Amino acid sequence: METIHTLEWMKQVARQARADGRLVGLVPTMGALHEGHLSLIRAAQQQCSPVIASIFVNPTQFAPNEDLEKYPRQMEADRAALEELRVDTLFAPTAKEMYPEGFGTYVTVEGLSTRLEGKSRPGHFRGVSTVVLKLFEIVQPHCAFFGRKDAQQARIIRQMATDLNLDTRVVTCPIVREADGLAMSSRNAYLKPEERRAAAALYRALDKARKEIAAGERDALRLAGVLRRVLGEEKLLSVDYAEIVDADTFESVTRLRRNCLAVLAVFAGKTRLIDNMAIEEKEGELVVTL
Ligand code: PAF
Repeated sequence: METIHTLEWMKQVARQARADGRLVGLVPTMGALHEGHLSLIRAAQQQCSPVIASIFVNPTQFAPNEDLEKYPRQMEADRAALEELRVDTLFAPTAKEMYPEGFGTYVTVEGLSTRLEGKSRPGHFRGVSTVVLKLFEIVQPHCAFFGRKDAQQARIIRQMATDLNLDTRVVTCPIVREADGLAMSSRNAYLKPEERRAAAALYRALDKARKEIAAGERDALRLAGVLRRVLGEEKLLSVDYAEIVDADTFESVTRLRRNCLAVLAVFAGKTRLIDNMAIEEKEGELVVTL
């Protein structure tokens, strides 16, 4: 596996692959790789060759009060995991290269970026869409792979790709969960043992709502109440939001409809955890995917 740190070299390698008629896949990450990231790599490898994984802890998507400094960094372990999966290229640019002195251009997907995660973390999605657009411009991938745990992020990136006529297909991959259902996340490493135990309630809440839907519940406000009730049973958790939203607009809905998401954001101590469940209509039936 080749490791590239400079933008110019990455551009050359990626453009050569395109010129050779190869299908370039990009998996953007901030490192601290876990099984969720590795599942994105595997999905990319099924559709693309070469596969380029990027590791860049993007400062512009962290608010001043957030965890940029203490965000987990484990480059050697990450490199080994990518080597083992036979990833073609690791792109690990420096912050200086990505945001040189005088940097002043940001991209914002209006509307979508201000709801839910965007409301709780102002500026977060501006940083995400800016860095992802830069990565897309540097690598010019045919496909880029994102996890559904960050459903709003994936939706925003897809909107950006549409709005800016980008030549990159945005692929969203399933959530990968721990044995007790907790969605894998680099931030899970922050959890103290008792918080880690309490965090399983996110999955329990979604699963309870799933059962209510299977039993015929279609009232989105009652389902949101179910989420809050299950989360409320864990004293170590405090709920930021627990809602049913339209999967395109991320606006709250009052009744389940064709394409919804149950979305959760919860603090376990100082650690913010998110999760979601897709509710889609397929052949006249509601299909729920955790
Ligand atoms: O999901 C992430 O890890 C980050 O938000 C991303 C997409 C790599 C942009 O920094």
